[in-house]
Amino acid sequence: MEKLNVIINGKECKADKGEFLLDIAQRNGIVIPHLCHHESLRGQAACRLCIAEVRENGRKKIVTSCIYPVMKDLEAETETEEIREMRKVLIGLLAAEVPENAAIANLAEEYGSGDEIRFTKDYGNHCILCGLCVKACAELGCNAIATVNRGITKKVSTPYDEPSTACIGCGSCAYVCPTECIKIDEQSGIRTIWNKEFQLIRCNCCGRYFMTKAEQKYLRQKCGNSQGELEMLCKNCKQAEMAKKIIQIGMEL
Ligand code: SF4
Ligand code: SF4
Ligand code: FES
Repeated sequence: MEKLNVIINGKECKADKGEFLLDIAQRNGIVIPHLCHHESLRGQAACRLCIAEVRENGRKKIVTSCIYPVMKDLEAETETEEIREMRKVLIGLLAAEVPENAAIANLAEEYGSGDEIRFTKDYGNHCILCGLCVKACAELGCNAIATVNRGITKKVSTPYDEPSTACIGCGSCAYVCPTECIKIDEQSGIRTIWNKEFQLIRCNCCGRYFMTKAEQKYLRQKCGNSQGELEMLCKNCKQAEMAKKIIQIGMEL
């Protein structure tokens, strides 16, 4: 594949044609703040914190790095005065929406956005409406949550705020949430999320709870029991078991 020369903040980075600027930066240890991007869920372009200044063919422009595919050699800067000023304003707006959220407060402190906050609203919710949770659920094929209402009452919810029959309690939505605002609770083998309780099942090897019964049922419906005995193992035990098998095969060869 064609390799491109991309210089970010003075650092030379090799990149594949079409790779997104944010991914190139992350792969090369360059931190660009981002809230609505997750490696497996792309393209929200909601928070705009990942903006960068790009110079191509002698021209300068501001791009949203998480959705900017690099098609030719270029230079980019992610921490110019102008970029930091723009981020400061964007973070100030988010901080005004969810003033008590720790992740946003940390960013506000880093970028000095605190002084900008004149009016705040907090509905006991730390959601910044980035859309990652809705996308995660849709990618799973569950579509249990959606963005509802308009204006200041806009929020992410299940239909009519009722426990959703489509939710399998997998917790993916909570896992990707950048402000950790989706309540997920586990007690005595029961996971509660989106006002619904789910029975958890234990890993056959280490005994830890690792998925809900509803999730197991859903996966079986979608893919059958293609994993065999590995199905009942948590992620860590599954990896250990697979490594054991590979070593065994190597010894038999
Ligand atoms: S826990 Fe429910 S709402 Fe969240 S991703 Fe899983 S199925 Fe969707
Ligand atoms: S709940 Fe979290 S992931 Fe979902 S839209 Fe709000 S901030 Fe984003
Ligand atoms: S991470 Fe790029 S717009 Fe949010």
